[in-house]
Amino acid sequence: MKREQWKSQLGFLLAAVGSAIGLGNIWRFSYMAYSYGGGAFLIPYIVALLTAGIPLLILEFAVGHERIGSAPLAYAKIKKNWEWLGWWAVTFVMFGIVLYYVVIISWCLNFFVLSFDLGWGSDPDSFFFEKFLAVSTSPAEIGNIRFSILVGLVLVWFINWVILYRGVQKGIELANKIFMPLLFILTAILVFWSLSLDGAILGIKAYLTPDFSKITDPKVWIDAYSQIFFTLSLGFGIMIAYASYLPAKTNITRNALLIAFINSGFSIFAGFAVFSVLGFMSASQAQPLSEVVSQSIGLAFVAYPKAISLMPGGNFFGAIFFLSLVVAGISSSISIIEAFTSAMVDKFGVNRKTFVTVISILGFLGSIIFTTEAGLLWLDIVDHFLTHYGLVVVGIAECILVGWFFKLKILRNHINKISSVKLGPWWDFLIKYFVPLVLGMILIWDLYKELKEPYGGYSWAALLSIGIDWVLLTLIAAFAIAMRPWKTEHHKSGGRA
Ligand code: ALA
Repeated sequence: MKREQWKSQLGFLLAAVGSAIGLGNIWRFSYMAYSYGGGAFLIPYIVALLTAGIPLLILEFAVGHERIGSAPLAYAKIKKNWEWLGWWAVTFVMFGIVLYYVVIISWCLNFFVLSFDLGWGSDPDSFFFEKFLAVSTSPAEIGNIRFSILVGLVLVWFINWVILYRGVQKGIELANKIFMPLLFILTAILVFWSLSLDGAILGIKAYLTPDFSKITDPKVWIDAYSQIFFTLSLGFGIMIAYASYLPAKTNITRNALLIAFINSGFSIFAGFAVFSVLGFMSASQAQPLSEVVSQSIGLAFVAYPKAISLMPGGNFFGAIFFLSLVVAGISSSISIIEAFTSAMVDKFGVNRKTFVTVISILGFLGSIIFTTEAGLLWLDIVDHFLTHYGLVVVGIAECILVGWFFKLKILRNHINKISSVKLGPWWDFLIKYFVPLVLGMILIWDLYKELKEPYGGYSWAALLSIGIDWVLLTLIAAFAIAMRPWKTEHHKSGGRA
């Protein structure tokens, strides 16, 4: 069967941007910038982007494009017994990250509807935690399914399914051609609207005033690197699959640079909206800005609703804000499901349409646990372990595999032959030494903190049975799938170079 292909370069660009720009860009980035010294945070953020984000993005594009395959196929073609690495990446994002990611999109969908009549009432804090999520006291107390979250979830999976069912060109590409311009327009409206609010300038000042004392803390650097990793969808296997659908002649480096800068530019731009609104809130409530935000999740679902209730025409503002989160979220969730689907099509030759239907149903069933009263606690634990140990380990392993067990020069020559921005030996240095070293340090630091005290104050039993188990089970599943025989012939052919 012929490999699917993007219809146009622009289609690919928008799909990759759609994957990169997600829930994390709008409030996670702003929250980090705020707590880590305002404008000064941009320094570690940009250093991380240039030294790890862009080199790895180019690497993932190069692997997918030159080896012509999804992550497991591409890795198998590099070294047969490393196929598991590709399976692990696509398995823990499909049976981990995306399961709770879609639940957050469902919260956004609910808040979109609530915006119209400011349904969160006068106390958004207790509304969110007590009424909407009804958070239980421990992860072991699962409690009931939250009905409205479940309804939103059905809709989110349905949209994912429809888009993926239609395939690469008519589904993913077309959806992003609509979603991305829509997202940019919605965000621009939010930014200009919020800049016009009274007190906006207070927020902008807090956002942009560099507090250099904060960036001497190693934690800030670690968080900057992790944020870059997550935001560029690195280690997910997505960029590898997306690049495998490109035609032979494609300007890889230019695309990678464009995608990376559009993604970070979007975060910085959206930050203006977030901070103007916080400034407005602090002015209208005569509260210092530092007291307006307490935690990242609270920024979108507590602080924002509070501000929306206070501003003239707030319900429309709220609707636009939550709609933009939904759009950003869905364009990322489809990319995660596609990374897994593409891998299954490559290895087992499954029928794409049937498989997408099955995986959407399984995905929906798997997400249900996050719609329960313990959902927020489970989400917090699973997210912590998968992003800290899954993504980072995959990042290190892919640098080792490609940098040490394969000739990076083959990839570099391939990229240089077709791209306008040429890669020098500095790229090999970053991939072979620098990126694995930085990620290795992050991993050791994380492990050290992990052992020092249990994450988030949860019991060890909860962390072991939910977080650590999740990491291990997906790893075992990855090995199990990798050991199955190939049902297609793809792995027998080489790469383009
Ligand atoms: N890159 C996506 C995000 O930032 C996953 O949410």
